[in-house]
Amino acid sequence: MLIRFGVSIEKELLDKFDAVIRGRDYPTRSKAIEDFIRQAIIDSEISKDTAEVVGSIDIVYDHHKREVLNKLTDIQHDFQDVILSSQHIHLNHHDCFEIVIVKGDKRMIEKLANRIKAAKGVKQSSLRIAGA
Ligand code: NI
Repeated sequence: MLIRFGVSIEKELLDKFDAVIRGRDYPTRSKAIEDFIRQAIIDSEISKDTAEVVGSIDIVYDHHKREVLNKLTDIQHDFQDVILSSQHIHLNHHDCFEIVIVKGDKRMIEKLANRIKAAKGVKQSSLRIAGA
């Protein structure tokens, strides 16, 4: 069910907001406000330590580096409860890009992301939590 509601807001602030959403190609102000509200709710939910979340971990590593492949495999086996799948792409002669899809306990997922980031041979890694 859609609900219409009125909002009172400073003109200057609204002009800036409209400029931001135009830059992001939003078709309507309503769609932009809906997205921002939804994101605020997600942010609030995933800020809880006990949250059950879904997300992904991006990893770039040089597969020539000694033991990095074994190390990443070992880590992922230790966290199989929160790993749904992973995909590997060969970027160039040296580098591999891997994306690991995760779902479950937020603290466990952050621990996994930290272990991956700290592994020798990993050049870049980031965790993105998509939602709860
Ligand atoms: Ni590769």
